[in-house]
Amino acid sequence: MRNKPHLEEKFKKHPLVIYKLEDKVNWVNFFGNNHPIHLEIGTGRSDFILKLARENHDINFIGMDKVKEALNYPVSKAKEEGLPNIGFIYGDARNLREYFDDDRVSRIYLNFSDPWTKRKHIKRRLTHKDFLELYKKILIEGGEIHLKTDDYNFFKFSLESLSQNGFLLRNITFDLHHSKFAEDNIMTGYEKRWLSEGKGIFRLEGVFKTE
Ligand SMILES: C[S@@+](CC[C@H](N)C(=O)[O-])C[C@H]1O[C@@H](n2cnc3c(N)ncnc32)[C@H](O)[C@@H]1O
Repeated sequence: MRNKPHLEEKFKKHPLVIYKLEDKVNWVNFFGNNHPIHLEIGTGRSDFILKLARENHDINFIGMDKVKEALNYPVSKAKEEGLPNIGFIYGDARNLREYFDDDRVSRIYLNFSDPWTKRKHIKRRLTHKDFLELYKKILIEGGEIHLKTDDYNFFKFSLESLSQNGFLLRNITFDLHHSKFAEDNIMTGYEKRWLSEGKGIFRLEGVFKTE
């Protein structure tokens, strides 16, 4: 993706983008209501949450990405369509606590997260226990993680990591597009690409339970 320095300026002033934080964001003020928040970490082109936002007006969607160029398209698209229930964070998931109070988010989507295949990069995986600890803080009790990936090793790692760190696993499939979840599935940009190359897609849900 080509570096676009002017995006910094655009995002700093953009009403849909949380760019730099002096204080925690007041999401009720941001959206103008207290509807549940669903957050996609590593949102990229955001085809997935844009569609969800169009179809679910009683949920607020936030797309987060650490690459500003990735957010250019969805931010423009959301503005053009006048979607009132979507916002974006230009930032790294490592800093999630700067953006959310405790018990603020109902669902986290991890769609085709970078698998970080080398062992020395294991801590960068978005399902590493350090990230799960952050998610547990911002999720409500009973909050969920929904994950899709084409990478078997990342999927296996995620199943183990979630189950060992306080998430109850459910609705798991090793072949999403030939499963009962296919009908309601909304495809992401990467999903379309991997599917066209004949790859299978793995899916899981984890529910956060304190007891
Ligand atoms: C492979 S793309 C997937 C994009 C989209 N979810 C999809 O399925 O089409 C992964 C995205 O995650 C973003 N990303 C990776 N690590 C991140 C992090 N720690 N915090 C925020 N975004 C991250 C990358 O910049 C990239 O846009």
